[in-house]
Amino acid sequence: MSELLRIDFTYADAARSASLAAAAEAARDTLVGRKGPGADFLGWLDLPAQNTAAQLNVIEAAARQIRSAEALVVVGIGGSYLGARAVIETLSPPFAAGFPIYYAGHQMDARYHAALLEHLAGKRYAVNVISKSGTTTEPGVAFRLLWKELSARYDAAALKQLVYATTDAKKGSLRSLANRAGLETFVIPDDVGGRFSVFSPVGLLPIAAAGVDIRALVEGAQQMAAYLEGPGKTFDKNPALQYAAFRNAQYRNGKKIEILASYQAGLAYFHEWWKQLYGESEGKNGKGIFPASVSLSTDLHSMGQWMQDGERIIFETVLDVENVPGPTLFSQDNDDDGLNYLAGKTLNAVNRTALEATLAAHRDGGVEAARILIPDLSPTSLGALIYMFEYACGVSAYMLGVNPFDQPGVEAYKNNMFKMLGKVGH
Ligand code: PA5
Repeated sequence: MSELLRIDFTYADAARSASLAAAAEAARDTLVGRKGPGADFLGWLDLPAQNTAAQLNVIEAAARQIRSAEALVVVGIGGSYLGARAVIETLSPPFAAGFPIYYAGHQMDARYHAALLEHLAGKRYAVNVISKSGTTTEPGVAFRLLWKELSARYDAAALKQLVYATTDAKKGSLRSLANRAGLETFVIPDDVGGRFSVFSPVGLLPIAAAGVDIRALVEGAQQMAAYLEGPGKTFDKNPALQYAAFRNAQYRNGKKIEILASYQAGLAYFHEWWKQLYGESEGKNGKGIFPASVSLSTDLHSMGQWMQDGERIIFETVLDVENVPGPTLFSQDNDDDGLNYLAGKTLNAVNRTALEATLAAHRDGGVEAARILIPDLSPTSLGALIYMFEYACGVSAYMLGVNPFDQPGVEAYKNNMFKMLGKVGH
């Protein structure tokens, strides 16, 4: 397996997954051969390799300019913000007073946006508005509010230093506005869908603005791409194929819900990114695993009972981070709390024991699990993990028999909302 990622099936019926080895390899051939439905949207396969030093320089220069402001507001929804937020929140040290990043337009909560505008009043903040279509209502509304607020205080030249648009190369209302105002723009390639866009400027600009090393992130993705597509990456050596086979085998065995579990508090938004990737890619034509998540140990004391003992329609995918710096436990004269037996163990070792113990308990309770091990929470490891999940998602959806790269179901609420709001033409 790759040094950046291993997958372990000690707590699953490995034979069940292996029975789908040939199907997983066939789906992989469809994906990389660009022969399946949605093949026009496979540009993400090439994104890691396409990020040349020159392109990263341009993104980093804009990020430096953004960091000269007091804060950044990232405006986007779904795939146009979740990847960036996942990486930023995973890699930002808890409690550190880093460069403030706020998010807007991922919902239309009036209280949230009123409070955001109030919080930003008088501050010199930057905005990165991200929309591939350039017409999505939620980010459009949020950007309209922020643009009006900034335009009232800054002239056109100053606005160019503060507002950055990431959108289609030619079409959409955001492209028109950006061109008219002469804003610096970044392009979402035509053949890359939102939820597969982390390694495009959609993800990389806000991530760089947060101070994360985007070269290391991209390097991790490049290494994983080279590994997965390298010679001889048959089922037994390929974590993406094994993961895709595992989840399809579970689904065929009646397990309709996959729970992603992690033991690192910072991974909460990583869960959200993963849920969107799999939910929006696979939930169609009356099919698809429902992706859910838990943060453990926290949720062992809320959802733990259900997972151990509730209806047996779930399986689990556990993220295990091998090296996490932190305190070492010690003995003390007064052992009233009864914890001296932990002396000499690192907190991460204790946390990983909780992980192992939970896996064993869940297996005994009829819940099978895949365990994905990564060496640490570094940009390189995270880049590799993200790419592996994207690749496995393409393979898994083809095994399921759906087009991973469209989202026709998202239109239904929009059409109703436009009609109810009185939008012309609806
Ligand atoms: O993954 C996707 O394609 C979606 O989640 C989109 O990213 C989301 O709907 C936002 O679309 P847009 O970038 O066009 O505003």
